Amino acid sequence: MRWITAGESHGPGLTIIVDGVPAGIAIDGSVIDADLRRRQLGYGRGGRQKIERDGARITGGVRQGKSTGAPIALWIENRDHANWEKVMSVTAVPEAPDAVTRLRPGHADLAGALKYGHEDVRDVIERSSARETAARVAAGGVAKALLRAVGIDILSETIRIGDITATPRFDREAIEASDVRSGDPAASAKMVAAIAAAREAGDTLGGVSIVRATGVIAGLGTYAQWDRRLDGRIAQALASIPSVKGVEFSDAFEAAGERGSAVHDPIERRGTGFGRPRNRAGGLEGGVTNGEDVVVRVAFKPISTLMKPLPSVDLRSGEPSPAHVERSDICIIPAGGVVAEAMLALVLADAVCAKFGEDNIGDITSAITRYRERLKPIADR
Ligand SMILES: Cc1cc2nc3c(=O)[nH]c(=O)nc-3n(C[C@H](O)[C@H](O)[C@H](O)COP(=O)(O)O)c2cc1C
Repeated sequence: MRWITAGESHGPGLTIIVDGVPAGIAIDGSVIDADLRRRQLGYGRGGRQKIERDGARITGGVRQGKSTGAPIALWIENRDHANWEKVMSVTAVPEAPDAVTRLRPGHADLAGALKYGHEDVRDVIERSSARETAARVAAGGVAKALLRAVGIDILSETIRIGDITATPRFDREAIEASDVRSGDPAASAKMVAAIAAAREAGDTLGGVSIVRATGVIAGLGTYAQWDRRLDGRIAQALASIPSVKGVEFSDAFEAAGERGSAVHDPIERRGTGFGRPRNRAGGLEGGVTNGEDVVVRVAFKPISTLMKPLPSVDLRSGEPSPAHVERSDICIIPAGGVVAEAMLALVLADAVCAKFGEDNIGDITSAITRYRERLKPIADR
């Protein structure tokens, strides 16, 4: 499975193509839309989310509710485009729009303008914007549909905002009922207060989301080649989310300071196969899933756009100038978790297809049933 997105933050919309999706998967647009809505929620989001009402229009690859094996094409309209028609016009308008030249620290502004030779930072902002993560969530919705068919489920939970931490509970109902997607109501309330205080101070907050995949089949990925190790692929996918600066399997940074006897997961018999009494490996050993849940923590830096902007420099004049201020979120960890779910889903769905086939979901589920038969001690097969 491969996928690609296009479109600008304030352009007409976002285009998504997911290629290599097996035929016969039930694809329900309303389930994808529910995830798009989850990405828009969370205390601390900015004014943009009041304008958008994201929904994906499926324009290819699905017929009568099922994938056909053709590329799946999706389109998400940017409602805000109506307010940006002149600035985002494909053809040159007679009176050029005002250029953005005051560079924002923490954004792609400076690096992007230098790289592509842009004189108006708008040309950088529009594609580097995290609006693109709506497209990722739509693509992830297709991947989740495939994973659902093979019994794999993914859920994220906020476990830190600023200096407020919470223990993950993975209680879906409690998470979705929380304004910050934390299953701990006391921590939720403190997180909301911390975001409100940051907003009051013209500042922003980061945090950590934990993402867990359950029902994962042992044997996805491989140790045989560096770029096919699944831990590496998951880390790359998650680190590619705008503002993600750290990816940790299980509690790896904590484990790094402990002894091996406390960190490695003993192997025991479970049912007819194998199991682990704990899961500090985060479900992966040697770049291969071991049958336990895949558990990854994702660290998001505080949002870069500050209402009290940091000192910066004007791209054109080279003179000192405070950073450009654009309508912005204060904290995005609840939404970031939903994006992380999508990215993990896309990597796992691709790994399922790599191992069990990419043409037909019935072939895949039959292959998995057969494969499970040999996930037991050799003498018992
Ligand atoms: C869902 C989501 C929403 C975001 N919203 C904003 C925002 O409103 N303002 C902002 O400055 N950064 C926002 N970001 C983060 C920036 O897109 C990101 O920091 C920037 O593109 C630079 O990329 P980097 O942080 O990965 O280096 C958001 C990130 C995500 C995942």
